[in-house]
Amino acid sequence: MDLFAFLRAARANPLTTWFREHFEHPIVAGDGALGRVTVVSDPAAIRHILVDNAANYRKDDLQRRVLAPGLGNGLLTAEGEEWRLQRRTLAPIFSPRHVAGFQAPMGEAAERLARRVARRDGQSVDVALEMTRVTLDVLERTIFTHGLPRDPDALGRAITRYFEAIGPIDPLDVFGMPDWVPRIGRIRARPALRFFAEVVDELIERRRALLAAGEAPHDLMTLLLRAQDPETGQGLSDLEVKANIVTFIGAGHETTANALTWTLYCLSQDEEARGRAEAEIDGAFAQSGAMPPAEAFPFTRAALEEAIRLFPPVPFLSRQALAEDRLGRIKIPRGSLVTVAPYVLHRHRRLWQDPDAFLPERFLPENRARIDRFAYLPFGAGPRVCIGLSFSLMEATLVLAHLLHRVRLDRSPEAGPVVPLHRVTLRPRDGLRMRVTARG
Ligand code: HEM
Repeated sequence: MDLFAFLRAARANPLTTWFREHFEHPIVAGDGALGRVTVVSDPAAIRHILVDNAANYRKDDLQRRVLAPGLGNGLLTAEGEEWRLQRRTLAPIFSPRHVAGFQAPMGEAAERLARRVARRDGQSVDVALEMTRVTLDVLERTIFTHGLPRDPDALGRAITRYFEAIGPIDPLDVFGMPDWVPRIGRIRARPALRFFAEVVDELIERRRALLAAGEAPHDLMTLLLRAQDPETGQGLSDLEVKANIVTFIGAGHETTANALTWTLYCLSQDEEARGRAEAEIDGAFAQSGAMPPAEAFPFTRAALEEAIRLFPPVPFLSRQALAEDRLGRIKIPRGSLVTVAPYVLHRHRRLWQDPDAFLPERFLPENRARIDRFAYLPFGAGPRVCIGLSFSLMEATLVLAHLLHRVRLDRSPEAGPVVPLHRVTLRPRDGLRMRVTARG
């Protein structure tokens, strides 16, 4: 593909730049519009890049240019010592102990969603929109307890607009133009960013007052403002607190919403799997009452993990080699880009049986050990693995359980085909309209 054809395709939908060879060969190296790019789908080589020799592979400039203007120097975009300090300070916040403490607010948000959707019995709803609402509701309750100071829908829309605007690859970024050259995407994202920044300032200010009065609730926001580096005792600067609040919302909202949307889509296409999930869910509610724990739903969680195998919310990870390296016989030149694409890896012909089929059984506890750790990377791996992994899996499992307990969702007959669109995250291009049938 020539340079301009590539840029056009990448801007419209980067998924269309994957070819058959990517899904069939372990490593595909090519010299193209972005210089040398090596697409790696070999589990051992991925382990080398993301874990064993991770120090040689930093997040690439293109990715930083796309994300940093919105997320600041939060955990997702920071590098080097700055990232190490932040990760060490933030890791305890997302420990299993703290995450388990969020089960109740997550369950409550899930139940509110389920009841809201059940009221639409016989009508159609945009499931993608409902899922962004519930994930924002969960963040609101787990990060801020007292809620967001503005209309949550407006904030949700601002986030979506922001990804919409920055999502298409900007040719100026590709060509390495300096940051002060205005980018069209970034100009369009500005109002959404400004709105975002104002909301977060308000939140920090209010919380500092509550902390000073000794009345702060126990949530992620308080944990963030109190966090200390376990080695030095140092807290986060105001700027870091702010960047990380924006990062948690930015990194945790659309991703989890898309994971849920794709799971509901996959289940609507497979009556047997959906029936099995419903039976598991009805059984757990009958046994444990209104708020069963996430562990009560192994099949539902397996369906979720299988859906994000087929439709990984983060379809593409990229790194830049600091020094020359080798992956077997293949040379990785210094400064070149290395890509690990979950979308490709998860459907790779050599790694998966029936790669395009939705088979939740693959992820049941008894089968799990057969999946190579480095063949399945919806949350990445190594030192930069998603810090919100347990948080989002627990959240998404609970949302599915509460929702499927109350409603059945079917693809509306009049709706067209579902087209996956890669805009930072992977989502259905036109939303996902589904018909609601309330369950008993
Ligand atoms: C289904 C939901 C999610 C998916 C698929 C997902 C995916 C990912 C992936 C693939 C990475 C690694 C990127 C790389 O290596 O280049 C990552 C990093 C990160 N994620 Fe998630 N994520 C999800 C939910 C969340 C949630 C709920 C939060 C926070 C509340 C979160 C916060 C972060 C942060 C802060 C990082 C950067 C970690 C670092 O670099 O140290 N994510 N996520």
